[in-house]
Amino acid sequence: MSRDRWHIVNPRGEKRVIVTRDLPGDRWVEILSAAGCRVEIFTGPAALSPDEIRQRIGARCDGVIGQLVEAWNESLFQALQGAGGKVYSNYAVGFNNIDLAAATRCGIAVGNTPGVLTEATAELAVALTLAAARRLGEAERHLRAGKWKRWLPQLFLGTQLRGKTVGVIGAGRIGAAYARMMMEGHKTDILYFSLRPKPDLEAFADAYNRFLTARQELPVVCRRAEAVADLLREADCVSIHTPLDERTRHLIDAECLALMKPDAVLVNTSRGPVVDEAALVAHCRRHPRFRAALDVYEEEPALAPGLADLENVVLVPHIGSATHWAREGMTILAACNVAAVLVGNPVWNRAAVDAFLRADPPPAAPSILNAEALNLPLVKAAD
Ligand code: GLV
Ligand code: GLV
Repeated sequence: MSRDRWHIVNPRGEKRVIVTRDLPGDRWVEILSAAGCRVEIFTGPAALSPDEIRQRIGARCDGVIGQLVEAWNESLFQALQGAGGKVYSNYAVGFNNIDLAAATRCGIAVGNTPGVLTEATAELAVALTLAAARRLGEAERHLRAGKWKRWLPQLFLGTQLRGKTVGVIGAGRIGAAYARMMMEGHKTDILYFSLRPKPDLEAFADAYNRFLTARQELPVVCRRAEAVADLLREADCVSIHTPLDERTRHLIDAECLALMKPDAVLVNTSRGPVVDEAALVAHCRRHPRFRAALDVYEEEPALAPGLADLENVVLVPHIGSATHWAREGMTILAACNVAAVLVGNPVWNRAAVDAFLRADPPPAAPSILNAEALNLPLVKAAD
């Protein structure tokens, strides 16, 4: 292991916190230092292997901030427990890389970073929707390859979004933000699928429709689909916003793709394995007017054979939350998760996390996934 690749901040801090990848900004380091932590940050170019992480945890480690590309399984949580550790925070909102039950058995609190990356990820999904609908990847490749000779009436005709039906699979924070952006920005109808109805989203559509009709504009429709299959059949464009778990793995397989319109658009900014990537490649080959736009892949950073050769797909490298604002916000939430648990502060676990981005964040852990299972104290409602 490249032991020289570690940057140590606040070396005399009493609690030892390991950060498996350097993170943007400085606030997060200040938060950890102020909580009495010695912060050890890995600055090497390659990812740490599980063995390297275990070695670094060593005999004494109080907390870790880790990455979504690391598999935090029983063995790593046991190593952290054995070293006296109390908390792990993912630097991500998604937590399919974590064996939460194992962490709970080891008494380790597990944090994530929701709320601050909602808009960034929804905006990327909108960008991918537009890129696929308007064939931006193909058009740019054409131009850069020197193939553009003249303006032509039929050059790269795509799909206009206004008035189309956009299907949103998973209408949690990010899915609902995407749905609002598509309704409000592009006047699309929304057909969403989620386990429970989303009254907030529907109330937003109602309020927006009062605005539109007062201006003599056509209202938009926003309703919940009974089943994913209905959504796939009806939508002109489908965007996926579910977490990855055993229920959503290969949720979109060959059979589902076959239900979609032959010229529909499929966007995925959630997790790669929600889509059967090999089936998608086959489908895009058979239907040149079908378009897909992907930010996430089944075996990142590898792509399914043939995917990168397809003209009708737009591919970006898992950059959903990659804005300066979101990525720095995530560092603050991850640091506050670790600092609060180590200091013994209660857990926030409310949807709104803006308070943590202010100069004086609340003395609480913003988001601990197994707070209830571990019986951790919660911030009282009146606070
Ligand atoms: C990114 O994919 C995240 O889960 O934050
Ligand atoms: C194209 O450039 C147009 O103005 O329609």
